[in-house]
Amino acid sequence: MGKNTVFADDIKEVVIDEEDLQERITELGKEITDSYSDDDDIVMLCILRGAVLFMADLAREIDLPVVFDFMDVSSYGASTESSGVVRIIKDMEENIEGRHLLIVEDIIDTGRTLKHVVDMLETRNPKSIKIVTLLDKPDRRVQKELDADFNGFEIPDKFVVGYGLDFAEKYRNLSFIGVLKEKLYI
Ligand code: IMP
Ligand code: MG
Repeated sequence: MGKNTVFADDIKEVVIDEEDLQERITELGKEITDSYSDDDDIVMLCILRGAVLFMADLAREIDLPVVFDFMDVSSYGASTESSGVVRIIKDMEENIEGRHLLIVEDIIDTGRTLKHVVDMLETRNPKSIKIVTLLDKPDRRVQKELDADFNGFEIPDKFVVGYGLDFAEKYRNLSFIGVLKEKLYI
């Protein structure tokens, strides 16, 4: 199941194991590297908190000078359904005007959270905005126009945890992506 076994009893099934995650992240890093020029000025924006582990691993696979920044937004309470109400808890620090912005997200579900973030950041006139998401649940999308430029894995409509993703702030430190047993969140 992975190196951390503390939550083993809570996990119904492993959806993406550690090896497949790391292999795909290496590929994503190459795709992203190839999509920019060597002298591009790129700000990697990690959407807290779910994208932290992905950002850390992905950044090491991108062979370009990048700057790190972080933004914390909230669209969830402790439930598993996006509310559509997006709150900026912590804004980014970098001035992105005229610079390439690469938004790093853990999962696009309904798309509401990211749509709100992209609309807001567009008003700051970056040179380009690209989105990389580790996971995509296309069946759940309500923001049809919102798609990632780079997408790690398409997954079915199941609530997943691990590798940064939480349920009520737990399970983020699993090294794989798994589905929780229903009794834990229904
Ligand atoms: P959206 O606004 O519905 O696209 O929700 C996006 C955010 O909800 C993500 O950044 C995650 O933090 C969270 N989220 C969506 N689906 C899941 C899931 O299956 N597991 C854990 N968090 C999720
Ligand atoms: Mg989250």
